[in-house]
Amino acid sequence: MAQDTHVPTGHEKVERNIGLMAILIIVVVAFGGLAEIVPLFFIKDTTEPVAGLKPLTALQLEGRDIYVREGCYTCHSQMVRPFRAETERYGHYSVAGEFVYDHPFQWGSKRTGPDLARVGGRYSDDWQRVHLINPRDVVPESNMPGFPWLARNLLDGDLTGRKLAALRTLGVPYSDADIAGAKAAVAGRSELDALVAYLQNLGTVISNKR
Ligand code: HEC
Repeated sequence: MAQDTHVPTGHEKVERNIGLMAILIIVVVAFGGLAEIVPLFFIKDTTEPVAGLKPLTALQLEGRDIYVREGCYTCHSQMVRPFRAETERYGHYSVAGEFVYDHPFQWGSKRTGPDLARVGGRYSDDWQRVHLINPRDVVPESNMPGFPWLARNLLDGDLTGRKLAALRTLGVPYSDADIAGAKAAVAGRSELDALVAYLQNLGTVISNKR
């Protein structure tokens, strides 16, 4: 039988050595990832606040934390996508500069209920309060759960100043006065007050007109 005198090429060596191939695949994918991710750090559009954006007030920030605690994000997104069907329903599509002070952002991905990115100002405070306590009082067919305890739980504000201070280390422009006054701004208010304040501010920095 003729001896196999074929000398493997570089490519054949890689194909026959699964360990080497795995390492090279990781290198190639890593380069691809870097090429996509690194430029994002330098694009100003994604890191600069849109004109007029203000950090959440102390009360709104407590509301944000209740929004997270109660898992509202498991049914609601906060991200209007740039499609006609979405902008007709919710308003202007979301832009990156609206979220630069959000740590963590609440974009979500599940929409059992409507998107909330532009819900601020859509309903009155009273509507929001009734709806959160028992959604079926205002939307009979709703399957959103009620959150009646929010009206009974009062905030003490003991940690509010520290929450603002922590966010300031991440670049949210809170002043010393904001931090010093945070406790007084929320103490004695109900969790419902805070959550409604948070909801009524959502998306309002960009025109809500549809
Ligand atoms: C189990 C899923 C579910 C959870 C959890 C949930 N929701 Fe809802 N939500 C819905 C559904 C469904 C609707 C639409 C019917 C209605 O208006 O009640 C809705 C509607 C809303 C609306 C009115 C939106 C609009 O544009 O009409 C607001 C505001 C809202 N939810 C806020 C919240 C908040 C705040 C929380 C957390 C405290 C929450 N939801 C938790 C399902 C949910």
